[in-house]
Amino acid sequence: MILATEGLRTPLDYARLPREELAERIRFRKQELNAVILGHNYQRVEIQEVSDYLGDSLGLSQEAAATEADVIVFCGVHFMAETAKVLSPGKTVLMPDLRAGCPMADFVTADALRALKAWYPAAAVVAYVNSTAAVKAESDVCCTSANAVEVVSSIPADRTILFVPDRNLAKYAAGKAGRPYVVAGREGVGEVPAGAIVAWDGYCYVHDDLVLDELAEARRLHPNAKVVIHPEARAELLAEADFVTSTSRMVQIAEEHDELIIGTERGLIDRLRQRFPLKTLVPLSGAAVCGNMKVNTLAKLAWCLDHRKHEVVLDEEVRAAAELSLRRMLEHSGGCRAPTPEERALEDAGLARSGCGCA
Ligand code: 13P
Ligand code: SF4
Repeated sequence: MILATEGLRTPLDYARLPREELAERIRFRKQELNAVILGHNYQRVEIQEVSDYLGDSLGLSQEAAATEADVIVFCGVHFMAETAKVLSPGKTVLMPDLRAGCPMADFVTADALRALKAWYPAAAVVAYVNSTAAVKAESDVCCTSANAVEVVSSIPADRTILFVPDRNLAKYAAGKAGRPYVVAGREGVGEVPAGAIVAWDGYCYVHDDLVLDELAEARRLHPNAKVVIHPEARAELLAEADFVTSTSRMVQIAEEHDELIIGTERGLIDRLRQRFPLKTLVPLSGAAVCGNMKVNTLAKLAWCLDHRKHEVVLDEEVRAAAELSLRRMLEHSGGCRAPTPEERALEDAGLARSGCGCA
């Protein structure tokens, strides 16, 4: 039986197995454990292929809250697996590699946020989900790139908002919500205009590195293409975009357009190109690769299921406080949602179960 694990102790041992055997092993073990594999849109294509659910941060947290599986295997970065544990504390949450962290999330610690809150005691705190559970626990409400504008707009217009950790998403949301915007610490701390968003000075190295020159070159080569960019990019780039949106919405936009320049991580674009081989889907930058997301491999995923490692554990006090701000966000976004056409297609093709477990 292929499920014997003798001689297969480390991920390196698994890396020597053929890809088909790894995929087969993953499917068997998943059934045995009643496990579900949740994969972010930036994962390697071979991981996307064995994922039960693929999506953006919002969809993944909705799925994690709704799944009936006993074990959640998270193929993404650490804060995403933490979010799954926060929302499904009774389930075992596993990650193929604990080193898959998010540098943006690491920009702010709970201690540093507490210090900022002390300067603005009446402010509401909005934590982008790309933050640790400890930071979420210090926040009033979470948001993702899909609902940041909506979440910010739900807060009274004259109340100050501390927004952590992404200054670019904060600026984008401030612009859309018509609020003043300042970066914490740059102009000193203290008085800010009524209703201002005070952003933490953090960013995503993948999106913040996208530059106007690359966009100009892509446009020169594809003058008829629409431009879609993730809101983690800088404001001057977002000002040039036809659409500014999350990764899952980008999938829908690709369904509707034949020629796109896409400003986000390569994993999503590789998948879209596989799915729509006749369309012109161009990365805004070929260098936009999140090395942290790519730490996960098929071999590590097979190892993770066979050996039930690495388990994500959280302090209960932190978990419960983080759950409040995540659930507030999910309420804004309608809790669970129906599967997208792409998820339905995956389901119909029998490749994977997908979509929200309760839909
Ligand atoms: P999504 O919100 O589209 O998932 O993208 C955020 C991101 O960069 C994940 O790290
Ligand atoms: Fe973090 Fe950026 Fe990688 Fe997303 S793409 S996991 S925000 S570093």
